Amino acid sequence: MRQTKLEDFLELEEHNKELEKKIKVELEKNRKKDELLFRQAKMASMGEMLANISHQWRQPLMEISSLFLPIEAKLKMGIHIENDELQDSIKQLNEITKYMSSTIDDFKNFFSKDKEKMKFEILQQINSTINIINGGLKAHNISLDIIIKKNPTILAYKNEYSQALINIINNAKDVLVQRKIEEPKIDIIIEEKDGLVITSIHDNAGGIRIEPIEKVFDPFFTYEKVNGSGIGLFMSKLIIENNMGGKLEVKNKQDGALFIISIPKL
Ligand SMILES: Nc1ncnc2c1ncn2[C@@H]1O[C@H](COP(=O)(O)OP(=O)(O)OP(=O)(O)O)[C@@H](O)[C@H]1O
Ligand SMILES: [Mg+2]
Repeated sequence: MRQTKLEDFLELEEHNKELEKKIKVELEKNRKKDELLFRQAKMASMGEMLANISHQWRQPLMEISSLFLPIEAKLKMGIHIENDELQDSIKQLNEITKYMSSTIDDFKNFFSKDKEKMKFEILQQINSTINIINGGLKAHNISLDIIIKKNPTILAYKNEYSQALINIINNAKDVLVQRKIEEPKIDIIIEEKDGLVITSIHDNAGGIRIEPIEKVFDPFFTYEKVNGSGIGLFMSKLIIENNMGGKLEVKNKQDGALFIISIPKL
């Protein structure tokens, strides 16, 4: 017997509902997967961070350990120590520990999760980010220049912005070191265009040797690296595009790669 039109319709309706349910389940699964990757990426960058802390503390620790050597020697030999000399050393010690404590604060801020968007000056955020990774760059003689055409205030997730920046700079560092580039350098340019705040990161490591170049944003895509996990740029794109409504793009220039972060201004 032929079904009536109404029965056809109801059956179709039922079918649609089933499909909708399936789509919802799949979407939820995808969201969970992204979340997991996100957490893994955070853990991976935590390892990088720890390496950076140790870099950044090595120098001041050395300074501390040698600071009181002359005084200790004088004490041992029974030579009189001037009040001024002692005070001078104590002052230096205070300064070094202040610096060490401020680097730790940077790290702590970095790992606290952004709860809400906030207004921040882009240059200030870049500076405290650089503070975190500068040790690693210096250790490899990589020079870093920041060119400020504008210093806008943006409304965004502060720490996540830093995280993306760190991933991009660390990638440039890795490639500069691996390819043994002479006079390695990274330039950061901040400017404003058409209501967008643009941070460009340019290195002279010879560029990305992957076709098509956008593949670098795929999860788990890693190339030419010993310990790469391939989530750095995937996560950075997620942060900039999904969480901040911005854009993360990549291009090859004559001498190296150029990453462009665009975030809508306020
Ligand atoms: N500045 C760059 N110059 C040349 N190649 C680059 C540059 N930045 C990234 N790449 C390439 O893109 C790949 C993907 O980078 P991504 O940060 O996503 O992963 P990774 O660095 O390999 O691993 P990790 O998860 O530890 O960051 C790198 O393996 C590298 O081959
Ligand atoms: Mg990386």
